Amino acid sequence: MNKNKNNQTIWNTRIKKNASTVFKKFVSSIDIDKKLYKEDIAGSIAHVEMLFRQKIISFKIKNKIVYGLSKIEKEIIKKKFEYNREYEDIHINIEKRLFQLIGEEAGYIHTARSRNDQVITDFKIWLRSATIKINKSLDNTIKIILKIAEKNVTTVMPGFTHLKNAQAVSFSHYLLAYVEMFKRDKRRFINNLESLYENPLGVAALTGTSFNIDRNFTTKKLGFKKPTSNSIDTVADRDFVLDFLYSVSVCSLHISRIAEEFIIWNSDAFGLINLSDTVVTGSSIMPQKKNPDPLEYLRGKSGTSFGNLFSMLTILKGLPLSYFKDLQDDKEIVFKSNETLINCIQILNEVLKNFSPNKKKMLELANIGYITATDLADYLVKNHEMSFRKAYQVTALIVNYAEKKKKKLHELNINELNKIEPKLTKDVLKIFDLKYSVSSKKSYGGTSFDNIKKMITKYKNT
Ligand code: ARG
Repeated sequence: MNKNKNNQTIWNTRIKKNASTVFKKFVSSIDIDKKLYKEDIAGSIAHVEMLFRQKIISFKIKNKIVYGLSKIEKEIIKKKFEYNREYEDIHINIEKRLFQLIGEEAGYIHTARSRNDQVITDFKIWLRSATIKINKSLDNTIKIILKIAEKNVTTVMPGFTHLKNAQAVSFSHYLLAYVEMFKRDKRRFINNLESLYENPLGVAALTGTSFNIDRNFTTKKLGFKKPTSNSIDTVADRDFVLDFLYSVSVCSLHISRIAEEFIIWNSDAFGLINLSDTVVTGSSIMPQKKNPDPLEYLRGKSGTSFGNLFSMLTILKGLPLSYFKDLQDDKEIVFKSNETLINCIQILNEVLKNFSPNKKKMLELANIGYITATDLADYLVKNHEMSFRKAYQVTALIVNYAEKKKKKLHELNINELNKIEPKLTKDVLKIFDLKYSVSSKKSYGGTSFDNIKKMITKYKNT
């Protein structure tokens, strides 16, 4: 690309003195928003096509501009485009290059448009596809989890509350809890699409325009569903950014929870899962170590996402209407959050493909902590006409007895049980079987093996 001879700003007729280099560097966003070149060019092409249809510019000028913009796009793709930091952002960089390529007629491109509506148009189009890409990655995560779940329907482990053994569950059921979370994440991202499908183009700086533009045309052309309704709100609104950053935050929070869970389960103290060598790192001093660094990083990265959400909330807080330069940082924040999340999902998927449950250890742990006690209480209610509170007390006495005798519940014989509750018969002993316990939780959403199988099929079909 030819060096531009007059390195002047668009506003140099009015603002006579050149800004200092530090000032220009400070306000410039080109290093960040050059990512939006494709969206910017598409937006400009739709805009000039509309201007021509509305008889605001001529056929010839429209064609020249479209030709120039297509050429610029090719230059950028081939890395032949020279970004100039003198020109603040991607919008001015492209416009300046257009002047070089087609001459003065380039000046018609900015009729009935401001960078204020231009930038949000580009940004919304970009966010639409980022949203779809994130959801595709989450689909992959869900698929991987379902595969593991299918193989572990009858793998029994203790379910925890307060990290204390609570009741027996299927390992699949545990994993499917994360499927629910990632499905909600997807929905959260999809909900934001409603705003992302509202077209900002045409509201100009903040008032709309006196030109007879057709916003429905650009709406259709750029894949939006309808034009935004209030020009002032449009240039001031960054709710769609907040919604995106919030969705990223919740999703990374979910990732941090599964990461933490796996770190605990992989610890020597728990030993419930094994991580393959591809997803651990060594220690520089302790030769024996295999550390779950990627999982720890997944846990930690949620901090970046929350920070980004908070930055944007703070930028917007108390900001009067309409456009202010404060808003320019929205893109850097979003690009960072998006990239981090995409990386985290990829890493999570790798970890999920590279771990194995330690079924023996899971079962051993499930045999600690009297986790069939609630089953016993339920049994007493169902078979011996007791209220749940009464049955709870009887069961607590039995647990106390077992603890004193250093026995597990299934190691108690019927004579011992009868000392505390004479009504009990041998039939009760089946209650202490862990698989029996899990398979009895047939209520909708419960951990019974049958429920899980049905849920896996359901998830696979939706
Ligand atoms: N680079 C600017 C941004 O991203 C574009 C909008 C500039 N508008 C303005 N009036 N300075 O926010």
